[in-house]
Amino acid sequence: MSRRRLGGLNPKGLMSLAVDEETSAGNQPLQIPGFEIISELGRGAAGAVYEATNTETGESVALKLLSDEHVSDGLQRERIEREAAAMQALSHPNLVTVYDFIDDKSVVGIVMELVRGQTLRHLLREGHEIAIDEAVRMVSQIGSALQVVHDAGLTHRDLKPENILLDQEKNVKVTDFGIAFSEDSAGPRLTLTGMTLGTVGYMSPEQADGFTKVDFRSDIYSLAVILHELITGESPDGRLEPPGLYRDDLPDYINEAVVKALNAKPEDRFSSATEFVSALQGKDPQVKRGLFDRFRKSTTT
Ligand SMILES: Nc1ncnc2c1ncn2[C@@H]1O[C@H](COP(=O)(O)OP(=O)(O)OP(=O)(O)O)[C@@H](O)[C@H]1O
Ligand SMILES: [Mg+2]
Repeated sequence: MSRRRLGGLNPKGLMSLAVDEETSAGNQPLQIPGFEIISELGRGAAGAVYEATNTETGESVALKLLSDEHVSDGLQRERIEREAAAMQALSHPNLVTVYDFIDDKSVVGIVMELVRGQTLRHLLREGHEIAIDEAVRMVSQIGSALQVVHDAGLTHRDLKPENILLDQEKNVKVTDFGIAFSEDSAGPRLTLTGMTLGTVGYMSPEQADGFTKVDFRSDIYSLAVILHELITGESPDGRLEPPGLYRDDLPDYINEAVVKALNAKPEDRFSSATEFVSALQGKDPQVKRGLFDRFRKSTTT
């Protein structure tokens, strides 16, 4: 396993770590030298994420570890390594920070910033109506983080409420770059292995068809699906109606921005995440003109 490709990541001191195989087997608590595992935070296809304490520094961290059966799978190792490298290359207050990468024979994983709070999925499950301002604030934070991701030539490709963490002040931290794609990388080999990666419902049409070239505009579509869900409280399922049909308190410019970002053709969406965020904040000149026209119509008829 090459460590060079991690660039600035410094796995020093972690390389020699080994899982205590006896205790990690069966239902015994997981033992990772250098860390005390506190609890499991979430579980995915390839492994799990734990809250842990760095026993040397006392710092609380999140550890995303490949499960035992995937540690020997070269493709999974390469994917998590790429995920760590992608996250490490990016820096933004609304992106989870990666501290280190563990790359040992029997343990592979990412040491990252622990976000104490909940995911956007948990917030949605609470079932309360979310204020429009609040929804726009959270989506604007995701959009601002996405702009940094896109500027780095990456597409996240798996934006959905489970991958959006909220800290205790409800500030957003985007995570899970497990299928992030870079145009000038080995992405296709790692991700287009006959299955469509991503989550149906949040996926853009071009990503769902599995073959067409997917770029940052696919993330803009997924972000609009998330905002649609925050506004309507409805999980995405098939065709999405304009969100204004669900709520009288939704300003037209937000409705129009969501509809535009959900266009089936990528070229009909916004040309950057920043532009989408501006439109959500009523700063898109075209949307403003539309509002003015409607205002004139309603006052002259
Ligand atoms: N830094 C973190 N701080 C707190 N909780 C986290 C953190 N990272 C992940 N989690 C929790 O763990 C869950 C799974 O994390 P993540 O989405 O990165 O993994 P995954 O879905 O298993 O990944 P993959 O899709 O690459 O297999 C999240 O939904 C969240 O609940
Ligand atoms: Mg996830």
